[in-house]
Amino acid sequence: MNRDKGDIVDPIDIIEYFYPQDTLLRELLIWHSEQVRDKALQIAKYNKKMNLDKDVLINGAMLHDIGIGKCRAQDIYCLGTEPYIQHGILGAKMLREYGREHGLDLEVYARICERHTGSGLTAEEIKKSGLPLPDEDFLPETPEEKVICLADKFYSKSDCMKEKKLKNVVRSMEKFGDGPQQRFLDLCREFHMQKIPPVTTAFMEALAFIILDLIIAFFSICLCAYWKSLFLVKIVFILFFFLRTHYFYRKRLLLRQDVWLYQIFYFILVAITSLIH
Ligand SMILES: [Fe+2]
Repeated sequence: MNRDKGDIVDPIDIIEYFYPQDTLLRELLIWHSEQVRDKALQIAKYNKKMNLDKDVLINGAMLHDIGIGKCRAQDIYCLGTEPYIQHGILGAKMLREYGREHGLDLEVYARICERHTGSGLTAEEIKKSGLPLPDEDFLPETPEEKVICLADKFYSKSDCMKEKKLKNVVRSMEKFGDGPQQRFLDLCREFHMQKIPPVTTAFMEALAFIILDLIIAFFSICLCAYWKSLFLVKIVFILFFFLRTHYFYRKRLLLRQDVWLYQIFYFILVAITSLIH
């Protein structure tokens, strides 16, 4: 087992090397990887005795799906040619080549890439299902490989990006058969997943921002009623519309449908306020 930390890397530099353009795919890849990173760090927090390597967890989570751009999955903006199931081994190959070219040891992250699919895959399962993968075991072995494999199962890039409940993740593993599902349950037991609550998501932060937003709007209305002028209300509303849009952009929430609906609702509110004399 390789518990080597590898060389120090900035995962964003590597992502930008392979995804130089600011596309929806890069946005989605970073967003999903950050979700997996936060979940992995949360698992580490609840398993302090295991002494998990946080740098490996952070970089590994950010790089685990680096290979998706070479695969075909149009619903998540992947316009490559290879089958999606290969994204792990392709990502591992990309990292090994990048490491060779830049004089970096990225083997620890390459292993995370190739061992995070499902609950890992055995040579027997690959052969039995006729998967287009090499005839060998791709099972997570180090604690960090296991944590990232586990954390990844709580998020889907094609769904609404919300964290899944543990019982739903377990149910979703049924389709892979008894072996993979049992392996997943063993991982859950090893890392005490039943005791770990959902991660506070960026959406919750946005919700707190929206509540604050409404409180400020309410107080500005009260102030303007006192001053008998709507001018300040209009300024405050418009200012907060732009501030919030900037905040949602920074938090990568602008792709979310519910955030867009809220933005449209708020924009209508600003427009109506502007029409009032
Ligand atoms: Fe992933």
